[in-house]
Amino acid sequence: MDGLLKNAKRVFVTGGAGFIGFYLCRELLKQGIQVTALDNLNDYYDVSLKEYRLRQLSAFDNFYFQKCDLSDEEALNRTFAEFQPEIVVNLAAQAGVRYSIDHPRAYINSNIVGFFNLLEACRQSMDSGQTPVRHLVFASSSSVYGMNPKVPYSVSDQTDWPVSLYAATKKSDELLAYAYAKLYGIPMTGLRFFTVYGPLGRPDMAYFKFANRMVKGEKIQIYNYGDMYRDFTYIDDIVKGILKVMDRVPSKDERDAMYRIYNIGNHKPENLMHFLDVLENSLLEAGVIRNKVERELLPMQPGDVYQTFADVEDLRRDFGFVPATNLEEGLRNFAKWYKEYYG
Ligand SMILES: NC(=O)c1ccc[n+]([C@@H]2O[C@H](COP(=O)([O-])OP(=O)(O)OC[C@H]3O[C@@H](n4cnc5c(N)ncnc54)[C@H](O)[C@@H]3O)[C@@H](O)[C@H]2O)c1
Repeated sequence: MDGLLKNAKRVFVTGGAGFIGFYLCRELLKQGIQVTALDNLNDYYDVSLKEYRLRQLSAFDNFYFQKCDLSDEEALNRTFAEFQPEIVVNLAAQAGVRYSIDHPRAYINSNIVGFFNLLEACRQSMDSGQTPVRHLVFASSSSVYGMNPKVPYSVSDQTDWPVSLYAATKKSDELLAYAYAKLYGIPMTGLRFFTVYGPLGRPDMAYFKFANRMVKGEKIQIYNYGDMYRDFTYIDDIVKGILKVMDRVPSKDERDAMYRIYNIGNHKPENLMHFLDVLENSLLEAGVIRNKVERELLPMQPGDVYQTFADVEDLRRDFGFVPATNLEEGLRNFAKWYKEYYG
């Protein structure tokens, strides 16, 4: 079914104060859609950035924010029943690969218990006289591909060898969602995002940390001696992709479930050293830094993968869309924003 967004009056976005959630909410609000964003505003990274994003969203009359933890079943059900969303987008998660080594429980609470609570809230909407949820779109991650040696990564590749707890929880979400789509007829689409970057991005991510170190004139540590590749995807492309996907309920698969998984990535892996060159030049041009910094080459870290590379042919076939923003443009925008925000 197409045109879901045009007819949907209410959209529920979890993780609405987060990086991707903020941009998605803003786009939906511009289209006049009623948006309820839910977020627990945790301090995994600078909370003031989450509050800043929320202040921007609060300028819209059709925006409503609920501070709530997905793992709080009662609070979630209350918000859900009150708002009665037609489309749900789950972006709330404990993200990050390295953090999961010291804080494993945060991943289970948010990504497993929290996601399960959301699935249950969707199921209850189907048989409780509430407005039934017509489509649940949820964030997965390129990290589910683990050590997959085959590139580009296709959604038909096996994803049974996660190399971090984060990846394992994202893969689990895909399985839980499949079971609910099949059992209860709730249409669901999972999106495997590939390293998303841009203005108002996440300070815990490598590119942002590199920028911070460049500003302080500190040496940059580069793992696997710089021999790593990442499919960096600009935030605007991710939002365009989510909107396209939200708009259309997946048709039934061969096992009778309305369920699909797509990659959203730039389908152009960038060498880490080249990425750093472009980032450094963008920061120099924007006047954020005056000098280049030293680079320290180190061995691979546990949980890291050598390369990410999205096969986006399914996305192209079904939606006529693939990400297209190049690194130079994306990082120029990031550097300009960095200058404005941090001075
Ligand atoms: N940014 C990327 O490169 C990337 C790549 C792959 C997948 N993803 C996935 O995309 C989604 C959005 O990522 P992002 O980059 O915007 O991250 P983000 O951390 O900026 O946003 C997530 C938001 O969810 C909130 N949150 C976390 N746990 C919660 C809970 N239990 N209850 C309520 N709110 C909670 C956080 O406070 C945060 O504001 C996540 O699911 C992430 O795993 C992101």
